[in-house]
Amino acid sequence: MKSPIPDYLAEVLGASAGTGEGAVADYIPELAKADPDRFGVTISTIDGVLYSAGDADVEFSIQSISKPFVYALALADRGLDGVLAKVGVEPSGDAFNELSLEPGTGRPRNPMINAGAIATHSLAGAPGLDAAERLERVVAGLSAFAGRRLEVDEQVCASELETAHRNLALAHILRSYDILEEDPTQVVAGYTRQCSLLVSTRDLAVMAATLANGGRQPITGEQIVPPRVARQVLSVMTTCGMYDAAGDWVTTVGIPAKSGVAGGLIGALPGQVGVATFSPRLDAHGNSVRGVHLFGRMSDDMGLHLM
Ligand code: DON
Repeated sequence: MKSPIPDYLAEVLGASAGTGEGAVADYIPELAKADPDRFGVTISTIDGVLYSAGDADVEFSIQSISKPFVYALALADRGLDGVLAKVGVEPSGDAFNELSLEPGTGRPRNPMINAGAIATHSLAGAPGLDAAERLERVVAGLSAFAGRRLEVDEQVCASELETAHRNLALAHILRSYDILEEDPTQVVAGYTRQCSLLVSTRDLAVMAATLANGGRQPITGEQIVPPRVARQVLSVMTTCGMYDAAGDWVTTVGIPAKSGVAGGLIGALPGQVGVATFSPRLDAHGNSVRGVHLFGRMSDDMGLHLM
């Protein structure tokens, strides 16, 4: 017997596959080698039932989709006030790699842009951890969201570090404001490993479903972060997750989301599902062209829009 949800996913995947514009990211040289035609989707319910179509098992680097999850870890480890003292929650309206600091305090506008995510990385784990211990907190924490141990793509990581001039510049400026309180080079090295963790749409859909489920992992049953933290993360994803396309996204698709430059895209519908797509061609904002198209179609068909 045919199951209607996979049939539906295969159909929407086909309908969005023709959206051929966009270009694979090349500012990280290793990402330019990605197969631009890969396309996959997974939906995870908050009960841990998964439905997939296309290249759902292909692994790619998580990139900026790590940001909301590391923000969650930092909030759990340092408390809301501890994190808010260092990173704001306002949309920047600028590209993901702009400085976008609040005048006066030097706080990055939000944790979804690179400046904010670099600061957030430094806040994961208990105060006083060294760089290696903090990185282990990040890798173990993201792995707990996924329900399996995630591994670093060493080639992507090395390639990004060789060309990380902009992130290093952002980190040095953050250090000058004491937003970062330690060696900017080490923080960028840890942040870059965080971005190089390999995931599939299956992993990402379950990770998104964990946020949609108040921080409880649907398959392992583990409470990864408190419900209040999950709410904070989903709120910031709603206003800032799609960078300078956030307004367009929230009016059309209407759910908390986050994109990554390797072509991943997640959406989380509170109390219902986590959704993830993978297609490496990006638009001018750094968001996956076919992923955005597919989410638009699913939001219309399934009534996902929150408003
Ligand atoms: O720091 C960077 O530039 C990358 N590691 C991540 C950027 C990213 O994924 C932007 N999202 N679309």
